[in-house]
Amino acid sequence: MSWKTLSQMSLNGKRVLTRVDLNVPMVNGKVSDVTRIKKIVPTINTIIQNGGAPVLLAHLGRPRGERKPNLSLVHIREELEAHLKSKVIFVAECIGPSAETAIKIAEQNEVILLENTRFYPGEEENDLKFSRSLAALGDIFCNDAFSASHRAHASTAGLAKHLPSCAGKLMEAELNALERVLDQPERPVATVVGGAKISTKIALLENLIEKVDFIIIGGAMANTFLLAKGIRVGRSLVEESLTSTALRILKKAEKYSCEIILPIDLVVAKELSENIPTSVVDSNKCPENCMILDAGPLTVDKIKKCISNAKTLLWNGPLGAFEINPFDQATSQAAKFASEKTKKGDLISVAGGGDTVSALNKAGVTGSFTYISTAGGAFLEWLEGKELPGILCLKEN
Ligand code: 3PG
Repeated sequence: MSWKTLSQMSLNGKRVLTRVDLNVPMVNGKVSDVTRIKKIVPTINTIIQNGGAPVLLAHLGRPRGERKPNLSLVHIREELEAHLKSKVIFVAECIGPSAETAIKIAEQNEVILLENTRFYPGEEENDLKFSRSLAALGDIFCNDAFSASHRAHASTAGLAKHLPSCAGKLMEAELNALERVLDQPERPVATVVGGAKISTKIALLENLIEKVDFIIIGGAMANTFLLAKGIRVGRSLVEESLTSTALRILKKAEKYSCEIILPIDLVVAKELSENIPTSVVDSNKCPENCMILDAGPLTVDKIKKCISNAKTLLWNGPLGAFEINPFDQATSQAAKFASEKTKKGDLISVAGGGDTVSALNKAGVTGSFTYISTAGGAFLEWLEGKELPGILCLKEN
């Protein structure tokens, strides 16, 4: 660990500019999922308990340097206050005199929430002048937004040039969990890589092959692998132009002794809709008029066996079209198996990225995995082996 934690900083009397991820889903102007809000509470409370003044920086949506009233962080204030149990003061700017004054007159235990950093062009440009103006509002920079740390923006990375910097509690938990599964894992390491498109996961697969023992491939991306092996996939979703990439990945896996597990049987149907008649067929017998929508029961048994031999499991992406019943079965059954093994203390299980959390939520297992990351793109980039700018800057600080 080459970055500072919040507990290594002296916080008393300090204004702590804390980058959090408040990019939460909204419906009719109200927060519809509070997971990300709940996760930043420990960091903010730690700052308050240690005599510091938390000043929150965050983005909402992609306003691209313009003020968009529907993307104002004012809409998050109430929900944040309810979870923090401290007064949250919203400031309609994130730099300048009004922010300065609000911070100056805030009382101990009050939290300052500054306006969406992405209302300012300097944020995404990581403009030095803008990051200096942000830095003028604080004494310490605390990055608690792992999920935004793949962006080299002023509030995620630029600030570390100007202020003593550290990782917040959530960032610390994310990094510890991720390092535990890829950097020094207990072996064997199994991974589930699912989802619709192989095109979004090529770099990730290439990186994982060098590090893990098994990769279980599911979702529509498995179809491209089947097609690459000369197996007909009927009307299934497939990326025909990527079959040679799939073959290259299989070859690389052989070189690194990483076993790739592809479906051996399939759940197929004439279309993707709720409660449509389905059949289970061998992986090389998908009828021409059908599409592959989930892995079959023999595949699920094989996945369970793989997980049962593993000491560490990393999960990214669903195994089937989980949003529509009954095509959530392979994902649910494999996830439940992993969660039972985790509960017994026999498995370290970490999941994250994109649809993964919703798929595992649907399976009802999110509480029993060792760690579930709320990061999307950042989780994927980390799996690809990239240095994330928001973390690199903490190491260099
Ligand atoms: C996320 O929701 O994944 C993060 O907040 C990053 O958002 P972005 O993809 O708009 O940078």
